[in-house]
Amino acid sequence: MVIRRKIDRRAQLRRMREESLLGGGQRRIDAQHRRGKLTARERIATLLDEGSFEELDTFVVHRSSDFGLDSQRFLGDAVVTGYGSVDGRRAFVYAQDFTVFGGSLSEAVAQKICKVMDLAMSVGAPVVGLIDSGGARIQEGVDSLGGYSSIFHKNVWASGVVPQISVILGPAAGGATYSPALTDFIFMASGIGQMYITGPDVIRSVTGENVSHEDLGGAAAHSVRSGVAHFSVAGEEACLAQVRRLLGFLPLNNMQDPPRLHLGDDPARSDPDLPHVIPDDPSQPYDMLEVIGRVVDSGDFMQVHQNFAQNIAVGFARFDGRPVGIVANQPSHMAGVLDIDASVKAARFVRFCDAFNIPLVTFVDVPGFMPGSNQEYGGIIRHGAKLIFAYAEATVPKISLLTRKAYGGAYIVMSSKNLHGDVNLAWPTGEVAVMGAAGAVNIIHRNDIRSDEDPEARRAELIADYEERLMNPYAAAARGMIDDIIDPLDTRAKIVRSLEMLENKRERLPPKKHGSIPL
Ligand code: HXC
Repeated sequence: MVIRRKIDRRAQLRRMREESLLGGGQRRIDAQHRRGKLTARERIATLLDEGSFEELDTFVVHRSSDFGLDSQRFLGDAVVTGYGSVDGRRAFVYAQDFTVFGGSLSEAVAQKICKVMDLAMSVGAPVVGLIDSGGARIQEGVDSLGGYSSIFHKNVWASGVVPQISVILGPAAGGATYSPALTDFIFMASGIGQMYITGPDVIRSVTGENVSHEDLGGAAAHSVRSGVAHFSVAGEEACLAQVRRLLGFLPLNNMQDPPRLHLGDDPARSDPDLPHVIPDDPSQPYDMLEVIGRVVDSGDFMQVHQNFAQNIAVGFARFDGRPVGIVANQPSHMAGVLDIDASVKAARFVRFCDAFNIPLVTFVDVPGFMPGSNQEYGGIIRHGAKLIFAYAEATVPKISLLTRKAYGGAYIVMSSKNLHGDVNLAWPTGEVAVMGAAGAVNIIHRNDIRSDEDPEARRAELIADYEERLMNPYAAAARGMIDDIIDPLDTRAKIVRSLEMLENKRERLPPKKHGSIPL
C-alpha cells in the first residue's frame, strides 16, 4: 500500500499565489520601481475597477529548457492576464511583466495572451494590452516567433469585433511593436514607453546613425512625427486614466451601440458666442476646436492623434449622451488643408467609428488638397483616396456641418451628400465651390482680364462677382447637396435632432468579402 505524504493543499496554493505575485523576484521589482515604472500587477490595479481583477493562468510557466532556462521558471511567466471591469463594464487585460526576462515573449506568454483574446472575442469585450517587453524571448528562438504570429493573427481577427487598445509602458522592441500596431489605439506614457523595430545599437552598426532610445522611439517621436501612437500622456496613472476615459466612449463589441451617458447638458443649449467664432475676414484662421467645444456635451472632446497632422482633428465626444466620432478640418493649422498625414489619420478614424457603430459628425472648413511635388511624390492621390473610401464605405449615421469653405475634391471627401452623407448642414458663412474666387477667375476669365485696359480693376470686379454668385451655401442647398442652412445658434440642437432621427439607420454594403481600400 502506498502511503501518500499529507500535504496541506490549501497552504500550498497560498504559497504558490504569493510566489506568483513576486514575478521575477523582489530585486527586479525594486529595479522596476527605480526606473520609475509600476509593476504589471500595479498597472492592472490602476486600470481596472478596484477589486474587479480575476487572474487567469497564474500557474503557467515557460516550457523551454535551453540556455539555462530550466533553472529559472517563474509562475505566470512574463505576463499577467485576466479580466475585470472599467466603470462596471467588462474588459480583458494582459500586462507584460518586465521583471521576468524583461517581459520578453515566450511560447507560454503568447498562449496566455491568445487565451484572453479568444475569451474577449467570444464574450464581446475590449482587450487592453499593457506593453513592457524586450521582444521575442531570445532563448526560445522560433517558438517565440511562432507566438508572435499567433498573437498577430488574433489581433487581425479581433479587429472590428472588439476594441483593442495597447498601452506602451516600457520598451516595445522588435516583435513587441507589431501587435500594438495592429490594434485600434496606441497610448504611450511619455518618458517611459519606447517603440522601435530595431534599437539604437543595431541602427548604429548598420547605418552609422547615432540616435538615442527616446529620440528614436519615444512618445514624442510617435505621437508627433510617425503617427504610430494615438495618445501621449505623462505618467503611467494619468495614461491609464485616459484609457478608461476612451473605453467610456466605445461599445464593448461591434454588435452593440456605444453607451449613452448623460452629462446633464441641455440638448437644445444655444451658445451666444458661436456666431462670432468665424472672423469676418475669410482669410483669417480660427480654431475649429472652439466650435466643437461649444456644441458637444459639456465641452468634452477627447482628441485622438492630437499632436499628429493637426490640420485635421479627430476624436470622441457626445451629443445628448450619444457618443460620436468627430472629424474636423482645422483652419488654424496649415489652413486646414488635406495632406497625406491628415488623410490617413482621418480615414483610419472613420473606419474605426464605422466598425463600432459610432456616428460621425464632420466639421468642414477646407481649402482643398495640399499642392506640391512632395505630396504628389508621396502619393497624395493614393492616400487621399483612403479618406474618400472610408467615408463612402461608412454606413453609420453621417452628419456634416459646413462652417466656412469646402472647395474642390476636399468638399467631396468631407462627408459630402453624394458620398451618402445623411444630414449635411451649413452655416450662412459656408461656401461650396470648385476653388477659391481668385484662382477661379484667373482661369476662366484669363483672356477677359488680359485684354482689359485696367486688368487689376477687372480682376477685382470679376472676383467680387464670382464671390457674390458662388461663394455661399445656397447653390449647393438649391441642389439638395446641403440639407439645411442654419443659424449657428441652433447648431447643437440641429445635430442632436439629426442623430436622434438617424438612430435606427439601416444601410448595408453589397455582399462581398471586403473592399480593396487603396492602402
Ligand atoms: C530574453 C531578455 C530579453 C529578450 C531583455 N531580457 N530582453 N531576455 N529575451 N528579448 C532580459 C535581460 O537579459 C535582463 O535579464 C532583463 O530582461 C532586463 O533587461 P535589461 O537589459 O537589464 O534592461 P534594460 O537595460 O532596461 O533594457 C531593456 C531592453 C534591452 C532595451 C529591452 O533588454 C534589450 O535591448 N533587449 C533585447 C531587445 C531585442 O533585441 N529583442 C529581440 C527583438 S527581435 P536579468 O536576468 O538581468 O533580469 C524580435 C523578433 C520578433 O522581437 C519579430 C516578429 C515580427
